[in-house]
Amino acid sequence: MANLKGKVALVTGAARGIGAEIAKRLAEDGADIAICDLKAEWCEETVKAIEALGVKAAAFGVNVAVSAEVDACVKGVIEKLGRIDIMVNNAGITKDGLLMRMSDDDWDAVLNVNLKGTFLFTRAVARPMMKNKSPEGEQLGGAIINIASVVGIMGNAGQANYTASKGGVIALTKTTAKELGSRNIRCNAVAPGFIQSKMTDVLSEDVKKAYMDTIPLKRFGKVRDIANAVAWLAGDEAAYVTGQVISVNGGMI
Ligand code: NAI
Repeated sequence: MANLKGKVALVTGAARGIGAEIAKRLAEDGADIAICDLKAEWCEETVKAIEALGVKAAAFGVNVAVSAEVDACVKGVIEKLGRIDIMVNNAGITKDGLLMRMSDDDWDAVLNVNLKGTFLFTRAVARPMMKNKSPEGEQLGGAIINIASVVGIMGNAGQANYTASKGGVIALTKTTAKELGSRNIRCNAVAPGFIQSKMTDVLSEDVKKAYMDTIPLKRFGKVRDIANAVAWLAGDEAAYVTGQVISVNGGMI
């Protein structure tokens, strides 16, 4: 396990699902954790689980698509926990439909949360991360980890908005790595395959079977599988890894 003691991580969309598991996994490695979701009170269970691991936790109500709310959240995290070393852009939504029938609203909603939300938090944490220095003045920087998706790499019928947002997240990850690398801020993406969660529970049995047929490991992923990859990217073992997309998909692609 990575040693994240003394570090502070901020995870978006962490009331449940993959985000909640990432928050707990980083807490197991010793980081203090700030989490946010649309409503702070939705985060209560995750906060309790984090505190039970003996580290500090703070929850914020934030719509990741709203610039002022994102900036206020980052300010609040620094006031409460002192710094931000690890940023995990996890909040995401789907509004599926064939592109010929997709409404402007469904396109905008998904792009705003998944892609603009990732941009807004990346922009907001860049400066505080640049200020992270050791007592000797060494640039400590930080680690930004964006949650993309296998379909952002391969496309998927019925998900024009979602696949475009996740493909955008991958391109944004690579650009962020190039712009902030000189400050020792690394930026990588994790691209999950089919992970058992509320987002995928709603799919029909037919759709689930069709996915299963494409997975060499013959099981759907667990939220823990994603959290483990994020924890590795957040820690010093990945100190020379930036601008990469780590696929965690059971071999789907
Ligand atoms: P989920 O729906 O269980 O959790 C998403 C969380 O984000 C929820 O707590 C929700 O309230 C929050 N959220 C939504 N809109 C928000 C906003 N505007 N501001 C703040 N919080 C907001 O989804 P799940 O499965 O845990 O997904 C997490 C991430 O993983 C998403 O980015 C998703 O696209 C990605 N992903 C999930 C896969 C899966 O199979 N479940 C596969 C590939 C990627």
